Order: sequence, then structure tokens, then C-alpha cells
Amino acid sequence: MRTTIAVVFGGQSSEHGVSCLTAREVLAVIDREKYDVVPIGITTDGRWVRETARWDDLEPGSLPMVRDSMPPYSWDEVRDLDAVFPLLHGPWGEDGTIQGLFEMAGVRYVGAGVLASAVAMDKPFTKTVFAAAGLPQLPHVTILPWEWDAFRERAVARVHALGLPVFVKPARAGSSSGVTPVHSWDDLEAAVQTARTFDPKVIVESSAGGKREVECAVIQTEKGMPIASEVGEIVVRDDSDHEYYDFEAKYLDGTSTNVVPADLSETMRQRIRRYALQAFDAIGCEGLARVDFFLTDSVDGGLVINEINTMPGFTPISMFPRLWEASGVSYPELVERLIQLALNRPIGLR
Ligand SMILES: Nc1ncnc2c1ncn2[C@@H]1O[C@H](COP(=O)(O)OP(=O)(O)O)[C@@H](O)[C@H]1O
Ligand SMILES: [Mg+2]
Repeated sequence: MRTTIAVVFGGQSSEHGVSCLTAREVLAVIDREKYDVVPIGITTDGRWVRETARWDDLEPGSLPMVRDSMPPYSWDEVRDLDAVFPLLHGPWGEDGTIQGLFEMAGVRYVGAGVLASAVAMDKPFTKTVFAAAGLPQLPHVTILPWEWDAFRERAVARVHALGLPVFVKPARAGSSSGVTPVHSWDDLEAAVQTARTFDPKVIVESSAGGKREVECAVIQTEKGMPIASEVGEIVVRDDSDHEYYDFEAKYLDGTSTNVVPADLSETMRQRIRRYALQAFDAIGCEGLARVDFFLTDSVDGGLVINEINTMPGFTPISMFPRLWEASGVSYPELVERLIQLALNRPIGLR
């Protein structure tokens, strides 16, 4: 019998379009000799449809969307699949929710399980776990909804203790959605309100200071051992008006480039790889992850860990595949390896 793989994309988060872009590329390289492939789109309001993931009429500079007009796909049908590739970013996809559905349905899937997905999606929880693992991080403050709503002065006082500048971010979002750098306390409230349009829970973090952001990819081998890729750097062009690596710079206007390998000493690259592997295991990750770091101006090389993404951007020009390319794993091979990992892993508690 042939193996049936579904690719799920789109979804209800602010990263819907990015997910669709990734799906188009992954669907183009999946080995059709080997697998029957079912593209499943999730619309922005959460309906599941049979998609084709071909968008011929896309305007330049715009991102694709799952079409409402496609025939519906019922959740129950996932039971008949051999494995699912949830190419979803953000809440309701990368956060353990859809992973829970697959666990309940007894279907295998690519990538992190429920707990690791949920921890990695939630920036304050990620920090708690990373701190317990001894990984260096920037100081931060979490603002819970009840505090902001009823005890705002107290929240603001805790934030002031961090000192300027800070970054205000939704606790559970991605692709820089709702992220604002704050250089004056007068701008704090507006920044928190912006973050809260994505998530009622907000994190405020000291600024890393510099513009250097480096990333390392992790995948598991057949035997389950995580291995780390080459290290890459995201360089936002100096003449761009992006103050940081925002959504536009990431996906739309070409003002950022991925430099692989990053221009760093061998010692620093090794340290980044070591931290990436520690981070992967600290959250109990599976399959794949991209671990992101900042290089700060402080002493001791100033390396701090920023976050771990359990379903990183996955087009051929995205950092995750680029890092594997530089480490000797081509894009189609990467997709195939991840599917194999999913097909070979046990269902249930692992
Ligand atoms: N503490 C910080 N210091 C400096 N830049 C930051 C900081 N936090 C976020 N940024 C900038 O905002 C971008 C998005 O923030 P990040 O924490 O990676 O959230 P996301 O989940 O949206 O990717 C980062 O890639 C970086 O450019
Ligand atoms: Mg990030």
C-alpha cells in the first residue's frame, strides 16, 4: 500500500501567508513516486479545506492565502493518513494545539509534540525552561492580562526596572508580529497595546543592543539524537529603514539577507551549536527546530539565546533549509528526512 502524507498549511495565526509560501515549496519537492500527497489548507477562520497550494494570480510582494472556495476536509479524515506535515506557524498550529488533535487521532506527524510546541510558542515559558537549563538570556518582565487591566502602574514599574531601551512583544506570536522597540517610556503603553492585539499576555525584554542575530538549526538523526547545523546570521541592510528584523524585512522587501556561515570565530560557532542542542533537549523537542540568538555588546562575547522555533520558515531561501544546505543536506533531502522521522516514530507517549 502507498504511504499517504498530508501537508497542512495556512491557519489562524498572523503567519498564515508565510505558512502558505512554505507549503508551496515543500509540496513541490515531496517525492510523489513514494507518497500520495494530500494538501490541506486551514483558512484564517479555521475551516479545513482540500487545497492545491498553487496560486497563479499572486500579486508581487503579497502573500498567498488558503481559499475559502475549496472543498471542505473533515478532521476525522486525518485518521486515515500515515503522517501529517503541519507546516503551520504561530498559535493554533505551532503551539501544540494541532499536535494534540493528531495525538488524539493516533496519527503520526512531523516535528515537536504537544508540550515542546506549547513551551516554544510561549516566550515567558521558554525563558523559564531555558533558565533552568542554564542558558544565558536577556532580562525580561511578563505582563499578564489581569495585571495590565487592573494594576497597570505596578506592571509599568516592573518594566521600568529593566531600563531603556526595551522590546515589547506578544508572548505567543511570531514573524515579528506585534513587536515594538521602545526608546522612551512615553511609548510603552502604546507598544503594550500593539502586542495585546496579538496576545493578551505580553513580554517586555531588555534590548540586545546590537544588530547581530544568529541562528542555528537542529534536526534529529534516525536514532533520535539531535544534531546542529552550521550557524547563520541575519543581516538587515544598513541603508534600510528597518530598526530591527521586522515582518517586512523578513518576507517582503528583501532588505535582509541570510549569511551562512556567519562571520564568527570557530569557538563562538561551536558554543552556539552547543546551546542550540541544549535548548532542543531542554524543551523536549522532536524532529526539527531553529534556535535564535543575539550577539550583544556586553563582555564575554555577549551571546544570549532568544527563542526556539519548532516549525521554522521553510522555503528554500529560509534560514532553516539554508543552514542545512550549508551542512550538506539539500532541501528535498531535508523534507524527506523529516517525513521519515515522523513515519518511524511511535504513536502515543514516546
Ligand atoms: N530583546 C531584543 N533586543 C533586540 N532585538 C530584539 C529583541 N527582541 C526582539 N528583537 C527583534 O525583533 C525580532 C522578532 O522578535 P522575536 O523575539 O524573534 O519574536 P518572533 O517570535 O516574532 O520572531 C527579532 O528577530 C529581533 O530583530
Ligand atoms: Mg524570532
